[in-house]
Amino acid sequence: MLQDSFGRRVDYLRLSLTDRCDFRCRYCIPDGYRGFQAREKWLSAGQIQRLIGVFADLGVGKVRLTGGEPLLRGDVLAIARAIAETSGITDLSLSTNGSQLARHAEALWDAGVQRINVSLDALDPAVFRSITGGRLEPVLQGLQAAKAVGMSPIKINMVVMAGINEHAVESMVEFAAKHGFALRLIETMPVGSAGGAASRHLIDLERVRERLDRTLGLEPAALRGSGPARYFHVRDTGLVIGFITPMSRHFCASCNRVRLGADGALYPCLGSEQRLQLRPLLEAGASDRRIREEICRALQGKPERHGFLPGVTVLQRGMSSTGG
Ligand code: 5AD
Ligand code: SF4
Repeated sequence: MLQDSFGRRVDYLRLSLTDRCDFRCRYCIPDGYRGFQAREKWLSAGQIQRLIGVFADLGVGKVRLTGGEPLLRGDVLAIARAIAETSGITDLSLSTNGSQLARHAEALWDAGVQRINVSLDALDPAVFRSITGGRLEPVLQGLQAAKAVGMSPIKINMVVMAGINEHAVESMVEFAAKHGFALRLIETMPVGSAGGAASRHLIDLERVRERLDRTLGLEPAALRGSGPARYFHVRDTGLVIGFITPMSRHFCASCNRVRLGADGALYPCLGSEQRLQLRPLLEAGASDRRIREEICRALQGKPERHGFLPGVTVLQRGMSSTGG
């Protein structure tokens, strides 16, 4: 069992399959960014499979595939299938920007991906393009494809930015309610080379929550996932909205997760540079037992909380290398 020095139990692994992305969300990857990892540094599908087995032995039952954009990786389906078949893994999910989702949805479902989160920050194509650099239409098609194959729940992740899409929240609420998606609103975290942009547009989501409460009526939901969101029902609708407020109201005390980068670096905390390189261990022929010991040791260094402060970029590493 994985437990850190503050008594937090870790049963959830977020696995970044690539730090690359076909979008350039301004809070994540700046235009012209050149710092992507070389493909040769990525863990192979076989190495991933082995590590998932080791994590499962340590009591990790939940895995999320993330990126960058995980669907850019050619062997994503084979990886998903291998993870879903690993004994001890009971929940496999995916976070995606949706750009390639329409053509992958059915195969993902068949491979064992039961539920997905899709990033969607705007419903106006021009605003969407100004935030992501990409096209909205394929993402909307991807969402419908995921719904059609039966994925559930489907969650929309909307990063709310002051002066950019803060007033698009209401239309997103309507969209999510109409299609039966859950909606999560997220504050920008100042990390990596996009940290400055993230800070400039930081908004305290409590303000948005109060506004939605006035206009739509919000009721606290008993629903309390193991994740960071605080959930509310929108009155007279089936809609649930989650607020993810790493900046204004952090949720580190209930953190249950670690992250694995595409290159095999294990990050006990999203907000710390501390890492354990697992790839060299794999390549040196380390036993499962040795790898388990190293992982447990690394977990002892998981800090009590992140040190993000508005306006200060504390991490070199961007969100695209650890998948949010
Ligand atoms: N702050 C908050 N969330 C971020 N993401 C990426 N960069 C940031 C950031 N700076 C999250 C978004 C996106 C997911 C892929 O990663 O939620 O939907
Ligand atoms: Fe790509 Fe997601 Fe980062 Fe946007 S937030 S650039 S979609 S990894």
